[in-house]
Amino acid sequence: MLALDLEDPDPDTLLQRSSRILKESGEYVCAIKINRQLVLALGLRNGVDKLLKTAHESSLPTIMDAKLNDVGHTNEFMLRSYIDAGFDAVIASPLVGWEGGLDSVFRLAISTGRAVILLVYMSNPGADAFYSLRTMSATGKPKQVFELLAEMAIEWKANGVVVGATKPEIISSVRQLAGREMAIFSPGVGAQGGDARRAVEAGSDYLIVGRSIYTDPIPSAAAKRYRDMAR
Ligand code: C5P
Repeated sequence: MLALDLEDPDPDTLLQRSSRILKESGEYVCAIKINRQLVLALGLRNGVDKLLKTAHESSLPTIMDAKLNDVGHTNEFMLRSYIDAGFDAVIASPLVGWEGGLDSVFRLAISTGRAVILLVYMSNPGADAFYSLRTMSATGKPKQVFELLAEMAIEWKANGVVVGATKPEIISSVRQLAGREMAIFSPGVGAQGGDARRAVEAGSDYLIVGRSIYTDPIPSAAAKRYRDMAR
């Protein structure tokens, strides 16, 4: 999956460069993921929506990495804007909980045929301080934060979870916990030091790759390399 996180001070150039990378690499990726940084720089309308159209012309699903994590009505409003712009799926953070938090996100996604992917473990080195924290669950059984988050994803019937490729041992634990049906998406391959083979062998279904593709002198060749590695 291509993370289209390019940067450029000029919005027109940013759109052109993003569009070119998408067109050149499209045949080697299974979806595109867009971050808030691109939405801030280009805007949703007459900006990011053009990239979504290009992706859809190549039958590529589009995922908004919004990491939604607010109270229900603002989450719902944000998701509606993303859906109206053409996104097929959204990434949300389960930390805010169900009632008055992500309940509205799941309701809207289900009624519009969109997917919700939940963030279970970040890929940066500092992520362990929180996501691996040991807690005492309501049943008195000690659990780590990421295990609680993975359990929420199962209970809420999320369409998938994000676990950093830099943490293959966590991918294995989440795979064991969530079973075969839960899709695991893993960013952090390449630029952040994650190893594609180890992530896939640990149980990841989809690799998310950004800088290692779009900063390569030949992005399509890099995309093909990662596609072949994943296979
Ligand atoms: O450039 P790179 O391949 O490191 O980009 C990774 C992408 O995945 C970025 O868009 C980043 O926001 C996202 N991401 C991540 N780690 C997570 C969740 C999302 O790196 N755990």
